[in-house]
Amino acid sequence: MLADKDRIFTNLYGFQDWRLPAAQMRGDWDDTRALIGRGQDAIINEVKASGLRGRGGAGFPTGMKWSFMPKESKDGRPSFLVINADESEPGSCKDREIIRHDPHKLVEGALIAGFAMRARAAYIYIRGEYIREAEVLFAAVAEAYSAGLLGKNAAGSGYDFDVFVHRGAGAYICGEETAMIESLEGKKGQPRLKPPFPAGAGLYGCPTTVNNVESIAVVPTILRRGAAWFSSFGRENNKGTKLFQISGHVDRPCVVEEEMSIPFRDLIEKHCGGITGGWDNLLAVIPGGSSVPLVPAAEIMDCPMDFDGLKALGSGLGTAAIIVMDKSTDIVRAISRLSYFYKHESCGQCTPCREGTGWMWRVMERLRTGDAEVSEIDMLYEVTKQVEGHTICALGDAAAWPIQGLIKHFRPEIERRIGDKAVMMQEAAE
Ligand code: NAI
Ligand code: SF4
Repeated sequence: MLADKDRIFTNLYGFQDWRLPAAQMRGDWDDTRALIGRGQDAIINEVKASGLRGRGGAGFPTGMKWSFMPKESKDGRPSFLVINADESEPGSCKDREIIRHDPHKLVEGALIAGFAMRARAAYIYIRGEYIREAEVLFAAVAEAYSAGLLGKNAAGSGYDFDVFVHRGAGAYICGEETAMIESLEGKKGQPRLKPPFPAGAGLYGCPTTVNNVESIAVVPTILRRGAAWFSSFGRENNKGTKLFQISGHVDRPCVVEEEMSIPFRDLIEKHCGGITGGWDNLLAVIPGGSSVPLVPAAEIMDCPMDFDGLKALGSGLGTAAIIVMDKSTDIVRAISRLSYFYKHESCGQCTPCREGTGWMWRVMERLRTGDAEVSEIDMLYEVTKQVEGHTICALGDAAAWPIQGLIKHFRPEIERRIGDKAVMMQEAAE
């Protein structure tokens, strides 16, 4: 259980002002010059030692990602940092809270991370629907410029660094890092084939690192308090504090910073007041945002909420957006609705995703109403396996995995609907 003194996001609920003077009172921008003065390699090594893994969903080690960036400019090409604030994963809303209430942690983190990677500038790509949040971010960046914390000789460090805020236009796929880069370049937001990874050829063909908002916003505190402090939370390979977002059938849905690896039951009891109707009423949980398979109630109770704990259950931590479903949930309908989402958001570039997401959704709808043959359950599973791993970006996997989780854990419920519908049709015919 995380003590208040160990929280990084001290204004997560907006009890205090987000503006620069109040943020400075909370410790943001405190001698940033000295942090930068440690040098690029020292900063990257400290982030590596902290064990920080990317908070956008994939969990790639942040310090390692930074070390892929070139130390010398090739042909005079600049390097860039892109900060992914296109938070669109159903269930995810943590980056929104950071930007609303603690934006200076992000802006200061952008400068320090950008310096560590020798970047010329950072682009913060914020989802179009975050209108008020974008206003806060524009204002926070403007404050930082006015105070000399950004721009020429940023924070008195001798380093020149710009931060640009760019608003998206409502496409989920622009949260995929290479689609985001395309979008920033003014093109249609469609993922690129990887490799090359952005560190090799990113924004305008220049070396680029794309990091999630939370990953960047925790960096100044990690440097101030030390890698050993951050890595004292959680367990091996799953270090640090983490923002969990809990929605659905709990008494008090919330976004909360907790220690990585906290058991599911403790997280819900401590911060959400338990499951609606009591623990016996829990049906299933989608633990990492809609792109990961659901986990049935009995399996998740004592699970450490981290990358490895959820992977062992055949699911994932993702963005740590925990969607709790009690026994009143129509689980087939819920997953069918997610299938519709992925069909709607597919960019249409590759055939297995463009055709597969629509096909999977249509079969899911028939399974929902029972208008299907039992054999179609296996056929649907086979199609998810043909989509998974055969597409340009992870949206194909994200569309396949929730259906696989449903079939794996709730097959009897799907069969029951088909059986009930057959009986109903039979009775109607007689
Ligand atoms: P990924 O595993 O392909 O890549 C993760 C990061 O590591 C990327 O920045 C990539 O460039 C880098 N990377 C991986 N291998 C590398 C290598 N060999 N060399 C250099 N860099 C390398 O995952 P991806 O597609 O970036 O993200 C998928 C995740 O995003 C999903 O698991 C999902 O949880 C999450 N997601 C989050 C959303 C949100 O709103 N935050 C929305 C949708 C998905
Ligand atoms: Fe587009 Fe889907 Fe292919 Fe991703 S997997 S590139 S969203 S068609």
